[in-house]
Amino acid sequence: MSETPLPNIFDLTPLNPSFNENPHALLDRLRSECPVHRDTQAGSFVLTRYADVRGVLSDTTLWRDPDKAEPEAVLQKRIREERIEGIEMEQDEGRKGILLLDNPDHARIRNPLAKALYKRVARCRPQVERVVDEILGRLDGRAQFDVMADFAILVPIDVIARILGVDDTRLAEFREWSEGVILTLNPFRTPEQTSVLVAAAVALSDYMKELIGARRADARDDLVSDMVALQAEGAPISDGELSVNLQSLLVGGNLTTTDLIGNAVFHFLKNPAELEKLKSDPTLINSAVEEVLRFEGPVDITGRIASRDLDIGGCPIRKTQSVMLSLRGANHDPEVFPDPHRFDISRTSTPHVAFGGGTHLCIGSPLARLEAQVALPALFNRFPKLRLTKPDAPPRWRSLPFFRGLQDLIVDT
Ligand code: HEM
Repeated sequence: MSETPLPNIFDLTPLNPSFNENPHALLDRLRSECPVHRDTQAGSFVLTRYADVRGVLSDTTLWRDPDKAEPEAVLQKRIREERIEGIEMEQDEGRKGILLLDNPDHARIRNPLAKALYKRVARCRPQVERVVDEILGRLDGRAQFDVMADFAILVPIDVIARILGVDDTRLAEFREWSEGVILTLNPFRTPEQTSVLVAAAVALSDYMKELIGARRADARDDLVSDMVALQAEGAPISDGELSVNLQSLLVGGNLTTTDLIGNAVFHFLKNPAELEKLKSDPTLINSAVEEVLRFEGPVDITGRIASRDLDIGGCPIRKTQSVMLSLRGANHDPEVFPDPHRFDISRTSTPHVAFGGGTHLCIGSPLARLEAQVALPALFNRFPKLRLTKPDAPPRWRSLPFFRGLQDLIVDT
């Protein structure tokens, strides 16, 4: 065992430059030396072994609501504060995003939303293809572009706008608000950024309410109309709850899907043999996307709160204590993924945990997968000679804690 103290959760964020450079040096150490680690600064246990992480995710009796955690669980509490600070929403609404809800409210809101969203995602491939083609069309003739700003950021926003049913005339504003509300995820935002966030959140919330009213009066072929129809059939969701949860599709889905596409392009360009493999067998696209999610998933951690006394790997955890799950650590556990730090799109191994699991399993996972499965082949087909402009320069990872994505990704065509 090493003499150096074990890393705490803040060392496992981009605040620590060495984590940014290579997250696995610290995660591997934690997994092998103390896989169920009590981090006193965060007031939480940190789990890095796949079996433990999977076990906690699958236990649907555990809590998610930070208000149920013991006072020491400062990181969990901070998540709640971050989400409502500065945003003037009715208390009731602000607290009804499914991510931090427990049953029965979680199931009451999530079930109808999931039913409507999954049905729509199952038939929206042509819409996604159109969005991707349109964005790539704008890049025709460019010798160089930024995969992030010119492609990966644009795709998820336009796709979710089409799914929700945002009117074409409001698309430009919707894009602006969508970028604004993403700032919710940044605990280190400047006061100016907080003002942008608050303005965007208020405008988006007003627009959602307007859209719900408009679709109730005159239904169209979109998710908002589907949800209004489910309400009319008896789904017990208020308009406020609906509005908040439709907005959470943007907050939860845009940056993450952007990063999935960006991380995928980066690792394929860094691993040309894997790109060749995909090009010569396009049916590998699904396992390729799963490997990107495992290898460099966009979300680092999720959390639960013990709803009873637990024993994890021989370590006692008391009711109300917080448990943080390192999804990245679990996805690189050598017990489960042989040679875990190798990017290999033909792996047919155990499923990764990049989307969490159990009752809170990412509701947008089918959509994120679909977008990546469409976007990546379309990009590589349109630009068959795509390469990194500076192949030897270190990648510029964003500094957002608990998310992993690139600030920019400049390529030559
Ligand atoms: C690659 C892209 C994405 C990743 C890596 C990701 C990851 C995650 C993770 C780790 C969770 C927490 C799960 C848990 O605690 O067990 C989550 C929840 C959630 N995600 Fe995603 N997500 C992605 C895309 C999306 C998209 C596209 C949407 C919306 C369309 C979305 C909306 C949500 C929502 C609303 C929740 C809360 C679900 C609940 O608590 O019941 N996500 N996501």
